[in-house]
Amino acid sequence: TLKAISPQDLVGKKVLITLGPTREPWDAVRFWSNPSSGTMGACMAMAAYLRGADVTVVTGPTALSFPAGISRVSVTTAHQMFEACTDLWPGTDMGCLTAAVADYRPVPFGNEKFKKTTSDGSGITVAFEANQDILKTLGSTKKTSQKLIGFAAETSNIRDEAARKLETKNLDLIAANDISKSGSGFGVATNQMFVLDAQGRKELWPQLPKTEVAWRLWDHLLLD
Ligand code: CTP
Ligand code: CA
Repeated sequence: TLKAISPQDLVGKKVLITLGPTREPWDAVRFWSNPSSGTMGACMAMAAYLRGADVTVVTGPTALSFPAGISRVSVTTAHQMFEACTDLWPGTDMGCLTAAVADYRPVPFGNEKFKKTTSDGSGITVAFEANQDILKTLGSTKKTSQKLIGFAAETSNIRDEAARKLETKNLDLIAANDISKSGSGFGVATNQMFVLDAQGRKELWPQLPKTEVAWRLWDHLLLD
């Protein structure tokens, strides 16, 4: 019934959303990750679904569940998320990548549990190697018929960083927020976004519920 009162302006569109954190294993019991809850991505997915889109979510480990009408691909590592997204991308009309993907993964200690007695108590050093940039990869193969939305989590220089990421990742729209502010970013129900698009439109939005942010981002993408 909710669907019946929503504008059906995404009917026929295949939408791909990434959300949540990724987990990069180090040993049998430990991983590198971040506090993303996947809320912003879930809001993007629900908004697109209510507006009639054919939605697929590629989700890292989160506590979220989705209506049966949304396809779900569950992944753990950035590499698995990369594989799922690059497979889906050629058949996608609109991509929206909200996931907090680990930029680096620890060089694995191995399949065994690391024992503290391995070190003499003076500490250990873990090396990291770079993960692929999923958003940049999708952007680099984007057809003119496809649209791509990116997010940016910043602690300073939000406007410059948003502009740089919009350009280098070949995006149509970027939504950036200052995660050092309360009421924006990880684990809260609201976000305050600086929104920049490929046509040069710039908007600073007030702090809004993530549900409302999601609705406005689809509105903005459909403007042109
Ligand atoms: N992203 C991605 N794959 C990665 C890293 C980031 O798809 N390996 C996406 C995120 O989902 C987000 C956007 O790229 O939509 C920007 O992520 P962010 O972490 O803000 O930017 P980075 O390009 O990773 O740069 P940095 O972390 O240094 O600011
Ligand atoms: Ca990053």
